[in-house]
Amino acid sequence: MEKLVEMKHITKKFPGVVALSDINLDVYPGEVHVLMGENGAGKSTLMKILSGIYTPTEGEIYIEGTRYKNLTPAISQERGINIIYQELSVIDELSIVENLFVGRLPQKKVVGIPIIDKKYMMEKARETMLLVGLKRNPMTMVEDLPISEKQLVEIAKALVWNTKVLIMDEPTSSLTLDETQNLFEIIRNLQKQGVGIVYISHKLDEIKQIGDRITVLKDGGYVATKMLSEVSGKEEIITMMVGRELKDKYQPAGRGRGAQTEVLFKVENVSRADGKVKNVSFELHKHEVLGFAGLVGSGRTELMNVIFGAEKMQSGKIYLEGKELKIKNTYDAVKKGLAYLTENRRETGFFDNFEIWKNVAMEEALRTSKWNGTYGLINEKTEKLEAQKQKDQLNIKATSINQNITELSGGNQQKVIVGKWLAANAKIMFFDEPTRGIDVGAKSEIYKIMRELVEQGKGVLMVSSELPELLAVCDRIVVFNEGEIKAILDGADATEELIMHAAT
Ligand SMILES: Nc1ncnc2c1ncn2[C@@H]1O[C@H](COP(=O)(O)OP(=O)(O)OP(=O)(O)O)[C@@H](O)[C@H]1O
Ligand SMILES: [Mg+2]
Repeated sequence: MEKLVEMKHITKKFPGVVALSDINLDVYPGEVHVLMGENGAGKSTLMKILSGIYTPTEGEIYIEGTRYKNLTPAISQERGINIIYQELSVIDELSIVENLFVGRLPQKKVVGIPIIDKKYMMEKARETMLLVGLKRNPMTMVEDLPISEKQLVEIAKALVWNTKVLIMDEPTSSLTLDETQNLFEIIRNLQKQGVGIVYISHKLDEIKQIGDRITVLKDGGYVATKMLSEVSGKEEIITMMVGRELKDKYQPAGRGRGAQTEVLFKVENVSRADGKVKNVSFELHKHEVLGFAGLVGSGRTELMNVIFGAEKMQSGKIYLEGKELKIKNTYDAVKKGLAYLTENRRETGFFDNFEIWKNVAMEEALRTSKWNGTYGLINEKTEKLEAQKQKDQLNIKATSINQNITELSGGNQQKVIVGKWLAANAKIMFFDEPTRGIDVGAKSEIYKIMRELVEQGKGVLMVSSELPELLAVCDRIVVFNEGEIKAILDGADATEELIMHAAT
């Protein structure tokens, strides 16, 4: 069988970094080739080379046997290579249909004059949206969509074209379980049509389900390519990626002592006018990590937004250490001791074009600075020490804390933001999907740190769509559905089945 793609001896250097060194990768028709590696290993860079965005420093690229010396995005697309980007590339200010065809507007000729074929665009948009399960009017503006639907637009964008090779860079990071299964159906159909798929993900459970072959990268180097049927299990993949066995991946120490202790934070009968949060009450005890389970869209993020002052609370009360807390806005929330790692980090999480250390120091600076406390009064040395600490404990891959965050890999940007919130000396921490896009090693670090935070007397609320991590980390788990609490389960007794049962 002829290879669709062959990349040989690819090396890519950025100033100060060798992102890839002597990498080989090939793709056959009808296969799902999984590409794995820790954050910063070089996965996205390799795929950006295949899509013509970056030019390799060395190496050769063949598409169906033809060698390309100067592959451009236009040539790559023309040869049937389409990419679903890790950082969503959708444009908020455009409608869904405009996003699907941006830069490649289909044309037709009317009496010899080329005009944009709007009819075709609408038809194709409807068809593709149906395929990915996006139930919207194609004219809906993308800015009005929640993050999971933005990700569906990103996927649809690649599927409107005739594809020979489809690159999926963490396509499921914001998807629900159902949406993920639907995507796998789409992938299987594409496979039957002979499309070759490169699939990047940090979710080990997905890999065995969908992959045929796997290639692992480590620190820009090539580790191995194997048939997944010959890989014994998750542990083997982790060992290939990390270079050693990873013990106590989940289960950090210290869980389960929270239940009887004093109440740190309390939410009473909180509702939103739009009905997305209905009469929610819960208590967070000292030394407790409280988990929030539920399907994406069940109202968990909406609840966090209300508590944090990002959305208006229609009714209800919040108490911190026994005293009622009135929060005017998010700045006020930070001042009063709350911290919030949002799920949509690209938009609300960090400051583009700022150094790592400034991003890490930002929250604490906000909280502690007085009205006359200009930025100049902030202790740069302390901040840099804190940033260095976060860089070390989260294993952030960067040349130094002075590197610009924009240059980091997706997962390493996430780690910087997680580090920022870990550095924030808040009393109550809200973590919404804290491990999204983060590799296995750093995940277990984050769990450990969360447990340490509650040991120190802070309160942690964790929203996650990954049940195994909720089960491993949380003392109790609040199960949400349609804006309401359906159950509060004890972490030790809870199982995936119990949670799913309560959530649906
Ligand atoms: N434009 C750039 N300028 C400088 N360095 C870069 C640039 N793009 C990527 N890098 C570096 O190249 C390396 C590989 O990054 P890449 O984004 O390919 O990692 P990745 O495997 O996709 O990681 P993740 O799982 O976090 O997405 C990183 O060290 C990153 O900092
Ligand atoms: Mg990446």
